[in-house]
This record gives sequence, structure tokens and C-alpha cells, in this order.
Amino acid sequence: MSVVGRDAIDIRRMTDSDLDRVIDLIKKITKGKSRITYRDLVANNPGGPLDMSLVAEARGQMVGFIMARVEFVYVPLLEVCLIQTIGVDPEYQGRRIGSTLIQKLIELCHLEDVATIRALVAQDDEPLRRFVEHLGFHSSSIVNWDKTFEA
Ligand SMILES: CC(C)(COP(=O)(O)OP(=O)(O)OC[C@H]1O[C@@H](n2cnc3c(N)ncnc32)[C@H](O)[C@@H]1OP(=O)(O)O)[C@@H](O)C(=O)NCCC(=O)NCCS
Repeated sequence: MSVVGRDAIDIRRMTDSDLDRVIDLIKKITKGKSRITYRDLVANNPGGPLDMSLVAEARGQMVGFIMARVEFVYVPLLEVCLIQTIGVDPEYQGRRIGSTLIQKLIELCHLEDVATIRALVAQDDEPLRRFVEHLGFHSSSIVNWDKTFEA
């Protein structure tokens, strides 16, 4: 537990039963612009063996989360903890909740012997890029190339 302002912040592992509140928080953070669905989040299998997702709570209310899971990428295979998204309630931003979530994830990775954390950051998401750079992340030498088509 850490103390942010007057509120004690608890960080714990995410479970399936958190997903509705995660969706609500994403809607609040993105002002309804995100198209992420419950199905997308379930696909991540929260609480499953490869899942590393965390939630931050103040007075029992979810105020932040990080969606992350262990993946094996590239050749030679590299085990990474992939951060898919992180979000903090706008009313609670700037109170070190985001950096505490990342710190807890680092501790979890140490426990699980995962030596690399990779954050997925959209090229045009300048605030998130600055946040992860501030926390010591550097740009990866591997670049994603996507081909899209009608499913
Ligand atoms: C990025 C985000 C997670 C940061 O969380 P936070 O709790 O507000 O950040 P913290 O208070 O822990 O900040 C940690 C440090 O990073 C710095 N920082 C945070 N955001 C920053 C930014 N945009 N640019 C530069 N530095 C930044 C802070 O100044 C702080 O520095 P300090 O350690 O010297 O005090 C939060 O602002 C957020 O949720 N943004 C929206 C993210 C989003 O759109 N996610 C996708 C949809 S949910």
C-alpha cells in the first residue's frame, strides 16, 4: 500500500470481475473515444498464468490499471512483459499512481524472472511516450509492421 495525498492506494492483481470497472475507467479517461470492449479484455485472460495486469484502488474504488501479459516475441525468442495499456482516472492523475503501477509491475517481473518490460505506445501519443521515457523506457530496436484486411 502507498499513500497518495490523503488516500491510501492499494495495488493488486486484476481479475475477471474487475473488467466492467476497467471499461468504465477507460471510457472516462478517453472521454468515450475508445472502442475497447469487454471481449477484448477477456481475451487477455485476467488472472491467467501469463497475465500481469494490476489495478490501483483508493477507498475501494478503482482509480488506475495496467493491462500487461508475458509474451514470447521475435527470434531468438525473447520473454517480455508487454504493457498493452495503462490508465489513471483523470481526477487522480499526477499523484504517482501510474509510476507506482509500473514499479509494482517491475517487482512482479523480478519475481517471475522476466527481464524486459515493453510498453506499446502509439506513435502519436506524445504524453504516454513522455511518461514511459520519464520512467526509463527507451525505444525498442524492433518495429511493428502491420497489414490489415477485412476479417
Ligand atoms: C500516463 C498516465 C498513466 C500517468 O499516470 P500518473 O499517475 O498521472 O503519473 P505519475 O503521477 O505517476 O507520474 C510519474 C512521473 O511521470 C511524469 N509524467 C506523467 N505524465 C507525463 C507526461 N505526459 N509527460 C511528461 N512527464 C509525465 C510525472 O511528472 C511524474 O514525474 P516525477 O516522478 O518527477 O514526479 C496517466 O496520465 C494516464 O492515464 N494518461 C492517459 C493514458 C491513456 O490514454 N491510456 C489509454 C486509454 S486508458
